[in-house]
Amino acid sequence: GAPVEVDISDVAPGTMKVVEWRGNPVWILRRTPEMMASLANNDSKVADPLSDKFYQIEVPAYAKNETRSRAEHKEVLVVVGICSHLGCSPSSRFAEGAQPSLPNDWNGGFLCPCHGSTFDLAARVFKNKPAPTNLDVPPYMYLSDTRIVIG
Ligand code: FES
Repeated sequence: GAPVEVDISDVAPGTMKVVEWRGNPVWILRRTPEMMASLANNDSKVADPLSDKFYQIEVPAYAKNETRSRAEHKEVLVVVGICSHLGCSPSSRFAEGAQPSLPNDWNGGFLCPCHGSTFDLAARVFKNKPAPTNLDVPPYMYLSDTRIVIG
């Protein structure tokens, strides 16, 4: 598939934009400082904190870290929104206020409706969930502060 260019100037902190790339949804989430701070708390709770494994796309070097994003804009997460278990698309769980039904040590991220895999705000899967790997980070780069190209 062709690379996809995306204007991310309208992605406000705490919100996410979805684009299509190679027939799959790609999520572009601009994380708030609080969201970024939450990641360190999850390092011991997620199955693969530094993304040694992958689902369908080999992990880009810039994604082998806690934030899983490029250094230019650490707050911007770009991931393929397809669960590594059986291919459902998880839903976001960070923009809906209080989440009484969720585990109280989970500060939000993504939840797969099919078999309950949960992911943090870097799309890292929590331990003991059916999804075997984190959500994939596609190849992407910045053309400017407000434009990325995926693929
Ligand atoms: Fe996501 Fe099974 S497809 S948990």
